[in-house]
Amino acid sequence: MKVSEKVAILDFGSQYTKLIARRFREMHVYSEILPPDSPLEDPAIRAVVLSGGPRSVYEPEAPRPHPSVWNRNLPLLGVCYGLQLMAHELGGRVVPSGSREYGPAELEVLEPGVLFRDLPPRFRVWMSHGDRVEALPPGFRHTARTEATPFAAFEDPVRRRFAVQFHPEVSHTQHGREILKRFAFEGAGLSPSWELADFLKSQGEEVRRQVGDAGVLLALSGGVDSSTLAAFLHRVIPEQLYAVFVDTGLLKKGERERVERMFAHLRHLVVVDARERFFQRLSGVVDPEEKRRIIGHTFVDVFREVARELPSHVRFLAQGTLYPDVIESGHSTGPAATIKTHHNVGGLPEELGFELLEPFRELFKDEVREIARMLDLPGEVIHRHPFPGPGFAVRILGEVTPDRVALLQEADAIIEEETRKAGFYEHLWQIFPVLVPLSTVGVMGDARTYAWVLAVRAVVSEDGMTADWARLPHAFLDRLATRLVGEIRGINRVVYDITSKPPGTIEWE
Ligand code: XMP
Repeated sequence: MKVSEKVAILDFGSQYTKLIARRFREMHVYSEILPPDSPLEDPAIRAVVLSGGPRSVYEPEAPRPHPSVWNRNLPLLGVCYGLQLMAHELGGRVVPSGSREYGPAELEVLEPGVLFRDLPPRFRVWMSHGDRVEALPPGFRHTARTEATPFAAFEDPVRRRFAVQFHPEVSHTQHGREILKRFAFEGAGLSPSWELADFLKSQGEEVRRQVGDAGVLLALSGGVDSSTLAAFLHRVIPEQLYAVFVDTGLLKKGERERVERMFAHLRHLVVVDARERFFQRLSGVVDPEEKRRIIGHTFVDVFREVARELPSHVRFLAQGTLYPDVIESGHSTGPAATIKTHHNVGGLPEELGFELLEPFRELFKDEVREIARMLDLPGEVIHRHPFPGPGFAVRILGEVTPDRVALLQEADAIIEEETRKAGFYEHLWQIFPVLVPLSTVGVMGDARTYAWVLAVRAVVSEDGMTADWARLPHAFLDRLATRLVGEIRGINRVVYDITSKPPGTIEWE
């Protein structure tokens, strides 16, 4: 992305790094996450944040920044591990704390300096560290402390270097956004000039330049990313866009009709009914990973057949890849365990022979939502909950059959309707039913029943990486249970999942 100024965030492995990047974008400063030892050659980099991280700076194999970080005279902000790096590499001293300080702490401002100017003398911050600074490097002023951490913040305004032990990027830190703003606008002298509308305009020109007269194929799922991408490409290259929607039979109730309605104005919309094929291949399969694999392969097969029928000038494949996917696949600092195979994260295979077009690869989800709003997509799409690529197949324990999917679609529709009616929909990351095809005993109208269990899963989350089960009001859960048992044949018991992630995952399979 070409911008005149940006903040580089060196990622030392903190779980909050992405949040730092988002905070800067929210204040209209373009930010980019880079590997920890990046040489910072891009002249547009006007400030650098050293992120937190799980290691100790004094360990021999601890990640270190490239020397250009110290030599290029750029304004710096060290956060947590970043603060300790500054102390360690610039002549101070870092030692183990003895015990880890985790959670809220009260910050006492000793000297406002640049970061704390006009903020209260005491406020709550969020800590997460096992080491602490014992001696400041030369040239720095001590600006704040907490009870457990004497050197909780320090700065060298002349060389424009700032450091905080706590995490200003998390919402539990009071005044966190203001502290980051003080760094960006006063400490580093940046200006709030990054606008999504400009981004869209320049991406539009870039897409036109890249594809020329060629056609562009897009796999439309009906979710917010691919829908927004379709709307964007329709605006930029209407005649060249070929959108393909595959009905796998595993989608939400009425999904195909919804997509057909919403995108009726596209010049080339191909809708493929592949339901039978998916059900056939899934017949008798119970293993979750096997289900995902089959769905992934079937999807590619269907797609390949459609692609063969397209005019020969269709050479590009547009994908709604977002920035978090790019960061995660680009430079993970350690080997990440495969918890589940997300078949659509890696996209369609290279052998399909398309060139990739990923106009949103620098954007966060909330920025895509904003673009969706700018492109006048319906609110219902903009705030849609994420829906997994393998659809209801991973929400049915055991074998996937058309009847079971139909049952789950009805249950899902009831849950969504009630959730929207109660005003909870936009506060939840997801809410959905899981079919547990085990029979339990019940009683209905004086008669004994023996039918399946339906679980309701509802979570709150920032990005799906971690999640907390939603503390929904009992009256609301009661209404769900009553409607589900009353209206869905084959269900006589509803249970509510009270597992957070970790240790649970959001989906059951
Ligand atoms: P888990 O279950 O891993 O889910 O905690 C995290 C988020 O990812 C979604 N999810 C998927 N999305 N393809 C997708 O596109 C998949 O295979 C897949 N599996 C899980 C899930 O709904 C949640 O939002």
